[in-house]
Amino acid sequence: MSVTIAVDGPAGTGKSSVSRGLARALGARYLDTGAMYRIVTLAVLRAGVDPADASAVADVARDTVLSVGYDPDEDKAYLGSEDVSREIRGEAVTRAVSAVSAVPAVRARLVELQRELASGPGSVVVEGRDIGTVVLPDADLKIYLTASAEERARRRNAQNVAAGLPDDYETVLADVRRRDHLDSTRPTSPLRAAEDAVVVDTSDMTQEQVVEHLTRLVAERTGVQR
Ligand code: DC
Repeated sequence: MSVTIAVDGPAGTGKSSVSRGLARALGARYLDTGAMYRIVTLAVLRAGVDPADASAVADVARDTVLSVGYDPDEDKAYLGSEDVSREIRGEAVTRAVSAVSAVPAVRARLVELQRELASGPGSVVVEGRDIGTVVLPDADLKIYLTASAEERARRRNAQNVAAGLPDDYETVLADVRRRDHLDSTRPTSPLRAAEDAVVVDTSDMTQEQVVEHLTRLVAERTGVQR
């Protein structure tokens, strides 16, 4: 039997690592929808388009050919046939992606593509912000990961320090709060848990504990072990 699992939640909840871990445990495909928004953002930047110019952004999105890998152990993203896996994680894309992902035409195009990709063979874990609410309202299990703003800021600041960036918890915390507000109040697909989602607070859990917990939830709710 194959299952479709939606994993949503804000940044800093361990969502990406946990979704990959769950896909691995289930022998499922993994779909990173954030990567898709990042690829379109890269195309926008390369076209010299202002990310705040919604109609120009929509034009670029319409013409962008993109694809992502399904392997939870890889991080493959392509713009046309070019491997842009590294570039989409860079600062320029990270700065512009919120504006690009707020454009309704971009969301409409990517949601359609995400539905198509999710409906492929076997089980799939789909990670994003609006998977349970918009992309896959009929998912077999919807998970919404949360963690306190302080804990998410602590994790992000630690990542920054490990990457050689300044140690600045207060600024990171202010940024986390600002992004929470923007994400949850934007008119198109605001970030929120689906009514039938299982909310998991990861503040006091390790990634391994979260994956174990979710794997158990999947077994209980769907009967699928692997
Ligand atoms: O998860 P991430 O940081 O790679 O996501 C990149 C951006 O895309 C982030 O600003 C939120 C947005 N996003 C979205 O709006 N909807 C999704 N399903 C996935 C990501």
